[in-house]
Amino acid sequence: MKFSGYTLISSFTPFHCIPLKKPRRLPLDINFKTASKIRRLSTYNQKQQNHCKAEMVVAKYPPPLFSVAPMMEWTDVHYRTLARLISKHAWLYTEMLAAETIVYQEANLDRFLAFPPEQHPIVLQIGGNNLDNIAKATKLANAYNYDEINFNCGCPSPRVAGHGCFGVRLMLDPKFVGEAMSVIAANTDVPVSVKCRIGVDDHDSYNELCDFIYKVSALSPTRHFIIHSRKALLNGISPADNRKIPPLKYEYYFALLRDFPDLKFTINGGINCVDEANAALKAGAHGVMVGRAAYHNPWNVLGHVDTAIYGAPASGLTRRQVQSLIFFPLHVSDSVYSDD
Ligand SMILES: Cc1cc2nc3c(=O)[nH]c(=O)nc-3n(C[C@H](O)[C@H](O)[C@H](O)COP(=O)(O)O)c2cc1C
Repeated sequence: MKFSGYTLISSFTPFHCIPLKKPRRLPLDINFKTASKIRRLSTYNQKQQNHCKAEMVVAKYPPPLFSVAPMMEWTDVHYRTLARLISKHAWLYTEMLAAETIVYQEANLDRFLAFPPEQHPIVLQIGGNNLDNIAKATKLANAYNYDEINFNCGCPSPRVAGHGCFGVRLMLDPKFVGEAMSVIAANTDVPVSVKCRIGVDDHDSYNELCDFIYKVSALSPTRHFIIHSRKALLNGISPADNRKIPPLKYEYYFALLRDFPDLKFTINGGINCVDEANAALKAGAHGVMVGRAAYHNPWNVLGHVDTAIYGAPASGLTRRQVQSLIFFPLHVSDSVYSDD
């Protein structure tokens, strides 16, 4: 396969849903002479069987049209209970769980991995940089019947990208990510996906992003990528600033749709309401992931997902009913105590 390099063609502004722009050429600073060699890497052949299995699984489960992003300390089991009362169809991602946590807490797995069955469809996100632990963690998690396993290649937190050297730093090592994804796919029965940024520090050209996507998908059965459409800065700024300061570049996302027609891509970053999510889907996105807006404003965001995105009936619950269901256990214990 010969590459002449990739170019950006389109731009997406959810606020105004602008038409696609004309092609804009970027400097082709990565050359793809080595691309055909990548295909011949020995691991590739060894993984063919896994690829077939995973491709069959992918065909069965297309990527979610709408999902709530993984958010540490936010998308815990409690938030997901609330989210599921409001939307029956949104896919819910867990907080990132380090592979090591799963492995070292083997005796205590329910605490980290159990969830009420009504939270399906639900995706477990794991992070890590040790293939053995990633394999063991996936195998242990497989028993919990998540609907997809996602691998974190986007977290810029110094605790993760610094000392642990995983999260977004892994974008600089696509070969490792390809191996990790093969290991994950080999230890689960469900589809696998990668969540990444569009680049890291100065490694932010469109061609470098393509290099990452190409190598990971060539070396593993990964067919679904979630693209947080801004790069990460590893210069010590806080994770919160890393979700604000680097600009969103949706044109990278839309160019990936064009350049990798066999893969599925979910767009993420800066999408604040269902109208914006629908605008992205109309512009061709395979799926939309919403993070902060779904947490800060669950009623207004998730309350419209079932009808406006999935064309299904709404949950039928009023805001007050949702509130009372969420607080029901407290009311019960209150009344129990007041009866005493
Ligand atoms: C509090 C918080 C925690 C997050 N934790 C994770 C995480 O565990 N894994 C991950 O891939 N992304 C994490 N993210 C990033 C989000 O998944 C998402 O990519 C980002 O917020 C951009 O989407 P948004 O603009 O819709 O919020 C986190 C974001 C926030 C606000």
